[in-house]
Amino acid sequence: MSAEQPGAALPAAISVRGVRRVYDAKPNQVIALAGVDLEVAPGEFFGLLGPNGAGKTTLIKILTTLLLPTSGEARIFGFDVVEETRRIRRIMNMVAGGEQSGYGILTVREQLWMFSQFYGLGSREGWTRVDQLIEAVGLGEQRLQRVSTLSTGQRQKMNMARGLLNDPWILFLDEPTLGLDVAAARGIRELVLDWKAAVPGRTVLLTTHYMAEADELCERIAIVDHGRILAIGTPDELKRRVQQESIFRLELDHLDEGVAALARLPGVESAALAADADAEAQRVAVNLVLTDDAALGGVVTALAGLGSHILALRKSEPTLEDVFVELVGRGFGDEDTGGPGGDRTGGGQGSATADEKPIDVVGDDARETSSEPNLTETRR
Ligand SMILES: Nc1ncnc2c1ncn2[C@@H]1O[C@H](COP(=O)(O)OP(=O)(O)OP(=O)(O)O)[C@@H](O)[C@H]1O
Ligand SMILES: [Mg+2]
Repeated sequence: MSAEQPGAALPAAISVRGVRRVYDAKPNQVIALAGVDLEVAPGEFFGLLGPNGAGKTTLIKILTTLLLPTSGEARIFGFDVVEETRRIRRIMNMVAGGEQSGYGILTVREQLWMFSQFYGLGSREGWTRVDQLIEAVGLGEQRLQRVSTLSTGQRQKMNMARGLLNDPWILFLDEPTLGLDVAAARGIRELVLDWKAAVPGRTVLLTTHYMAEADELCERIAIVDHGRILAIGTPDELKRRVQQESIFRLELDHLDEGVAALARLPGVESAALAADADAEAQRVAVNLVLTDDAALGGVVTALAGLGSHILALRKSEPTLEDVFVELVGRGFGDEDTGGPGGDRTGGGQGSATADEKPIDVVGDDARETSSEPNLTETRR
């Protein structure tokens, strides 16, 4: 590790202020980012969730200096993405799902060494690092195999090794487990977590369509749609937004007084027989909505008084998918209901919950936009 490794005193790992990005597509312009503000601390594992076309990859391309913002400002560890691209490229790397970078005719080892030279490592240092990373990602058996013959999962392990070759401070992962089997996806997640834990300050920005993956990995998550951040917080904070009450499912041997007796108890907002209850079964299933967990004690005491025995008790927890559907207004794969394509500044706002105000669009000052380099091209 060099003395330049990130620490507590460093500026924000990611600082985005009023970033807009407009693509000059035909027949209409596409507003891919409609004014994004975002701050990610050094050492954070941050997730971006949003439906197809939300603007996630566009934001990553801007942060990795592959694309210019139309307006606004973005910095990586204090370096400006427009003015200080060389500094940023030294301290970051990116791995995208389904990436096909490199030359199929080379072996895994040769390919990674070639990238190590692009990244400016010395020849000997390059081989040492390549061999270390091949072991770290579990490609030991494939090290002399041609890249063109790798399976999808093996190729992605190689891409991850490529992403770590320059010892980045910040790693951008754009759907890194796309199309991987359960074990391969878990392998990638463990690799990233181990890499991050090894040095304080290492930072990750992840996009994924796998809600459980985001929940497992991310300390904070931003939900984006139509180029705007709709909500931001820890997974727990986001879940509490969609479900403030405590919801329990109770199974009892009998409930002679009926659910009305439960509904009258303090702290019980509602009590209803579960819709899936089996009339023949020797048990009664009740869905209880409580103002908070503490109200459960009173319910248990009351049931004992009524002579009912609790056979099972389960708390129902919201998932990130519930949050997503609530905020974005549709599940993954559903049709976009945000209005006509092209200019979509109006979309998305109506789907935010009442207490969540989408971030305002910043001024639309005209600025030259860049032609767009290849996403998988990693230049020094
Ligand atoms: N080069 C381009 N030219 C024109 N429009 C583009 C270009 N790249 C992206 N877009 C548009 O910008 C919007 C945002 O795309 P982006 O790739 O950032 O979305 P995303 O959130 O990464 O989606 P996904 O989950 O499908 O990867 C989309 O409407 C897309 O069609
Ligand atoms: Mg994308």
